[in-house]
Amino acid sequence: MDKEIKEDRRDKNPDEEKPHISPKSSETEDYSEMERLGRYLAQKLRLIDFSGNDQRDESQRILRELSLDGIVEYIKENTNCKIITMAGAGISTSAGIPDFRSPSSGLYHKLEKYNLPHPQAIFELDFFMKNPEPFFTLARDLMPEGFKPTTCHYFIRLLWEKGLLLRHYTQNIDTLERIAGLPSDKLVEAHGTFHTGRCLKCRAPYTLSWMKEKIMGGIIPKCEECNEGIVKPDIIFFGEMLPERFQVLADRDFVQADLLIIMGSSLVVQPFASLIDRVRTTCPRLLINNEKVGMQDRLSRFLGLRQGLVFDSRNTHGGRDVAWLGDCDAGCQLLADKLGWRDDLQALIQREHESLNSGNRSDN
Ligand code: OAD
Repeated sequence: MDKEIKEDRRDKNPDEEKPHISPKSSETEDYSEMERLGRYLAQKLRLIDFSGNDQRDESQRILRELSLDGIVEYIKENTNCKIITMAGAGISTSAGIPDFRSPSSGLYHKLEKYNLPHPQAIFELDFFMKNPEPFFTLARDLMPEGFKPTTCHYFIRLLWEKGLLLRHYTQNIDTLERIAGLPSDKLVEAHGTFHTGRCLKCRAPYTLSWMKEKIMGGIIPKCEECNEGIVKPDIIFFGEMLPERFQVLADRDFVQADLLIIMGSSLVVQPFASLIDRVRTTCPRLLINNEKVGMQDRLSRFLGLRQGLVFDSRNTHGGRDVAWLGDCDAGCQLLADKLGWRDDLQALIQREHESLNSGNRSDN
């Protein structure tokens, strides 16, 4: 996974004065450079209101209320609202799949038996090349088998059915979005998927069912084409590039989104986490999560490094970020209720779960 942070300065005001510091030639020049820097900093500080007062009148506000109700009102008023959803492991925990970083229940807290140098090593390419066994042992528990999509997954599908979903970006490798029936063109699996696999030596492709048979049988899958390479599910490990589809679509989508909904992620893994800064400054952002995440310290914001989410404040762009804290399913259900979609969501879940129970999977 690419740990580089792609800076996005699109949202910055192009007319804003920038510090211009040239090589020193004399004390006088030095002084004027300092003066210029001083003026720049003073201007920046004036732009940030530390008092907590709203600098705009109500008519200029993006959200009338910084709450779930404010978001609901915004969606109802914007009939062609283009919504991007971003998700992490928290949207699948109610399906029985652990997340990574939750204290005690998270996967990274349960890996002692694998004797790893550090928890993330299980998803590091260098480590995998030397010792693939821990990953394949863990993969047996993570295999998308018998897990059913959650209310949250079906809410995302409902957004698509209502014509409001621009794209769903997920970090999850559990394929539950596919099983929930989200069409593949609406889905970006940023960290890859278990759905397909590849020989690390000759790149021969393999299907989930082929890999599943080996992995569940405790066998490390070896390529049947070259008889040498290990077949690795197409999950993006640390040290690997994210899929090209991620880069291409993120560039295209985020600038046109009208609403961003982030669910069940700690927003710590880059470059996925930085996507939140790629929407326009007028785009509201709703976080549905157990805890507040994605905030940046004032210095990073001030220096324009990263903006992050700014909750409970009308300071930045008149206020546009809302945190709804709690369970993802409950948050999505409440959002659906408030949007008047309660029956639609219930009917969808019932229909899909019945079809899964009868063995008619609807993944693509
Ligand atoms: P994390 O485990 O880092 O974060 C999950 C977040 O969801 C935390 O903030 C939890 O508090 C929250 N959460 C858990 N269950 C929830 C629930 N039912 N309702 C609401 N919130 C809940 O998972 P990710 O952010 O997805 O990489 O982790 C990102 C990446 O780190 C993963 O894609 C993975 C890992 O290394 C790979 O698999 C390659």
